[in-house]
Amino acid sequence: VPNVITIDGPSGSGKGTLAARLAVHYGYNLLDSGALYRLLGLKAEQEGLFHEGAFRGNVIPTEQLANLALTLDIQFIPDADQQLLVLLDGHDVTQVIRTEQTGHLASQVAVIPEVREALLQRQRDFAVQPGLIADGRDMGTVVFPDAPAKIYLTASANARAERRVKQLQNMAIDANIDNILSDIVARDRRDMERAIAPLKPADDALIVDSSSKGIDEVLAELIRYIDL
Ligand code: CDP
Repeated sequence: VPNVITIDGPSGSGKGTLAARLAVHYGYNLLDSGALYRLLGLKAEQEGLFHEGAFRGNVIPTEQLANLALTLDIQFIPDADQQLLVLLDGHDVTQVIRTEQTGHLASQVAVIPEVREALLQRQRDFAVQPGLIADGRDMGTVVFPDAPAKIYLTASANARAERRVKQLQNMAIDANIDNILSDIVARDRRDMERAIAPLKPADDALIVDSSSKGIDEVLAELIRYIDL
């Protein structure tokens, strides 16, 4: 059985970076489940299911979305500096899936039970030998409930907004701290209050607050915990 380590938490808690570092440390596969929701949001937009950021006609096209989720043509290709190249239908969408607009689309498709169901097996397929680092919102609670090590990474909304701005600037994407902060707060609320797979720590998760800790410090703490 592959060893699965789950890392859940809100936007900007540092999960993505830490998951990538842990995957390198242990030589495990990496699942960026948020990217799946972002890719589905983007694909739905390309298919014309959205109009000005909301579902066209305010009707949720459940069946179409579930079908798109099952047939989504995606590839994750690791590059030299540990960044994942993300392809949708063979096209490089690495940058566009990281924008706040796509995050907004992602969090709308993510509240639909049929979509989550359709993505379940695709996510579990990432668990290969010798193991998997699974990054998301419901990795420890829903997708991999039997994982032997679960982490819930969080940080204050301010700390998370600041990190997000830096991350976007590194990708040469313009970002305004006030807009990012209000986006983060709105998306947190949507993720925590939704009826299906809400964002919350698994009962058996280690909760780590990274507000005033650097990446290396948190990484060391997580490795100590995982190796126990
Ligand atoms: O990078 P950031 O943490 O902002 O977002 P993400 O991890 O890429 O996820 C984008 C959105 O997808 C989240 O706001 C959630 O609404 C949704 N998501 C989810 O519902 N379940 C997951 N396992 C991962 C993401």
